[in-house]
Formats: sequence, C-alpha cells, structure tokens
Amino acid sequence: MSITVINEDFASKLDAEDPLKAFKSEFLITDPSVCYLDGNSLGRLPKKTIDEVQSFMLNEWGPELVDGWSHWIDQAQPAGDLLARAALGASAGQTLVCDTTSVNFYQLCVAAINARPGRKTVIIDSSNFPTDRYVIAGIAEAMGLKLVTLDTDGSGGPGAVAIDSEFEEVTALELAKHLNDDVALVTLQAVNYRSGVRQDLKAITDRVRSHGGLVVWDCSHATGSIKLDLDDNGVDLAVGCTYKYGNSGPGSPAWLYVSKRIQTELRVPIQGWFAQDKQFEMGPDFEPADTIRRFQIASPSIIGIRGVEVAFEMIERAGIDRIEAKAAIGTDLMIKLHRQWLQPLGFELATPSEAAKRGGHIILTHPEAKQIAYAMRKISKVVPDYREPDAIRLAISPLATSYGEVYEGFDRLRDLVASSDYLTVSQDGNRVT
Ligand SMILES: Cc1ncc(COP(=O)(O)O)c(C=O)c1O
Repeated sequence: MSITVINEDFASKLDAEDPLKAFKSEFLITDPSVCYLDGNSLGRLPKKTIDEVQSFMLNEWGPELVDGWSHWIDQAQPAGDLLARAALGASAGQTLVCDTTSVNFYQLCVAAINARPGRKTVIIDSSNFPTDRYVIAGIAEAMGLKLVTLDTDGSGGPGAVAIDSEFEEVTALELAKHLNDDVALVTLQAVNYRSGVRQDLKAITDRVRSHGGLVVWDCSHATGSIKLDLDDNGVDLAVGCTYKYGNSGPGSPAWLYVSKRIQTELRVPIQGWFAQDKQFEMGPDFEPADTIRRFQIASPSIIGIRGVEVAFEMIERAGIDRIEAKAAIGTDLMIKLHRQWLQPLGFELATPSEAAKRGGHIILTHPEAKQIAYAMRKISKVVPDYREPDAIRLAISPLATSYGEVYEGFDRLRDLVASSDYLTVSQDGNRVT
C-alpha cells in the first residue's frame, strides 16, 4: 500500500483548486507570518466590517440619533433570517440575532421545560461546554428538577450516569436508555467544543420527541463551519454564537432558533418589552407577540448586528456546502499531518477521523499540551488554543484560512516539539487559554 507523503506541493495544490481561496483577501491580516488556527474561537475581522461599523456611526447613529430606532427596532429579525439562510438551513421567521449564547440558552431551556409541565428531568452531557452545564445546573436547582449528566468523558458532574461514548459523542441509542416520560429537556452540542465530534441532530431530536421531550441544540461550533439543515432535521430549538466561524467580532450578538411549529407553545422566562405584542402601547400586562419576536428580550446591539450582517453575507456568497467541504478537506489535511509528523512525537488525535463525524476543528492531546500551546504562540507564531486537561485545538476557518497556512502551522509545531524549544519559555499566567 502506498502512503501519500504530505508536502508543501500537496497543500499548494489544494489551495490552487480551492473555490473559496479568494475570500482570504476579504479579511484584515496584519501579520501574514502568523498561522491563525484558532478561527473556531474568534474569527478574523472582515475588512468590510470596518467600513460598515464606521458608516453606521457616521451616517446613522451620529445624524439620526433616536430617530434611527424607526429602522433599527426590528433588525434582530432580518439579521436572523440572513444568518438562517446562510448557515442554518432554516426558513425565515424562526431566527433572531440577539444577546449572548448563554442568555439565549437559558431563555430556550426554561421555555422548553415550562412547555412540558409535570416533567421533572433534564439531561445534559459532561463534555458539554461549561456555560451550558452551569446554566442547566442553575435551572435545575431553581426549578426543583432532576439533572442527569451523561458522563461521556469520565469527568462526572451533577447526577452523572455512565454511558458508552466514543469521542464524547452521545448517540441516539445511548441517549434512549435515559429517556422516559419524565424528561422535559435534553441539551447537547451540534459539534462538541473539545473533541469536535458532530452529533446526529435528526436522530436525537426524533428520539427525544418520541418520548414527548424537547431538545435545545448548542450550535456554536457548527455555525459557519458545517451544514446544519435545522428545518430538514426537524430541530425545534437551537442557539449559537457568531464570533467563531461566523467572523462577527468578539462578543458579537448570538442567535436563537425556534421552529415555527412550536413558537406559540413557548413562553420565555425573561419577559422583556421587545417580546410584547404591542410594544409601544406599554400596557400593564405582558402579552407576547405570536412571531419569533416573542423570544427577544431587549434592545438589540445595532453595531453588533452590522458585524453579523457583513460576515453572514460572506458565508451566504461562499455557500455553506462549499464551506463544509473545505472544513472536511482542511481537517483531513491536519489529520494526515498528525499521522506523518506529530504522532511519533507523542500527540494523539482525539477527534473522529471520518470527516462527516466532525466540524472545522480537531484536537490533539499531549501530556505537555499546555506548555506546547503556549510556546506555539510565543515562539512559532502559530495560534491554537488549549483546552483542559491535555488538548490542543486546531481549526480551519474555511473563508479565512488557506491550506498552506494549515501546512505551515503544523510544520512549525513539529519543529517546536522535535527540537524541545517549547521548553524554553515560561508561561505568563494569562487566565485565557
Ligand atoms: C459551545 C459553546 N457554547 C456557548 C459558549 C459561550 O458563549 P457566550 O459566552 O457567548 O455566551 C461557547 C463559547 O465559546 C461555546 O463554545
């Protein structure tokens, strides 16, 4: 059996054939010698965002002042429709761009639980993102619910139960063992923040629905990296952020999706004035609108929405099919380079090797991962991130990253570890990893 040697020509050929290659020039790249493999944490800045934000200040906020609200007031909705079209596979009227993922997650989880009165169990997995685990634990405590944590990674958590899991995945079959008519809500990630495993949205949603429960999907690591097909997958509820593969900026507004099927069945716990049907009558009682606006709490960040619009218009132009295809090829390139260079240096791949089972990032574990991740930035000008307890996370952000950048980043990582140079820097105690 012949083994393909992955060299610079291999990566150059992928770049030459890349239908998305022109998009990289639409981003501000201040230091071209940096290999930025952390677009799954914070995406790069689109040049157009600089103009749009400046134009908003000079041509809208500055001159229009409060009159601007006449056309800003409902912008969470068209921005949501754009994001839904570009990245979610969702038709109009089901998505809002608003607040943060954590807040949207809280809103939809409580709304879902309240829509299943009498049911007292909620289910999450131990490898879910911390905010989801902490928020759901708080909800369970406040509402007197039984929290079940499916222990996919051995880390336990409130109400932990052991399940069979590979790459931190929760399969519909494993989940089924814990479903019954007391389960109001299950919440999982579409793409796991650490292992990168992609969950089966349809199988899990269908399975939970067959027991009468609802699922809230956290799609933060899937937004702008893979096709989600929320409508076709029969998803009811989902949230996600826009600052990762969405390239909308640090702390940019998040999104929430509520299927038209169940919108009027649900009531949000934070009854803000933007959800009020006749918002400007300012009446004494809360009467929510019967559209997606019933899930909006408050004044949207219009500056933030401008960043979302620019970035998701780029995603729409690129096509989520082509983005997903590039994420698959790029992560495959990483896996091949791992096998060729990094495995012999003690790195283990902890992400599925089958492209359809992952998103835009992989993780490599190593006993000295924290020190190596730090030295990658300091010495090699390669930006990954580090995730406890022993993982280096590396992503291809399909619009902003070239295959050559991935190749070069891995080449530098190999040199750094093979030479032991990573041992020469001491960590500065930065609390962000
Ligand atoms: C899967 C997932 N959910 C939620 C969040 C938190 O989002 P926020 O801080 O914007 O609420 C993150 C942040 O990285 C995440 O990766």
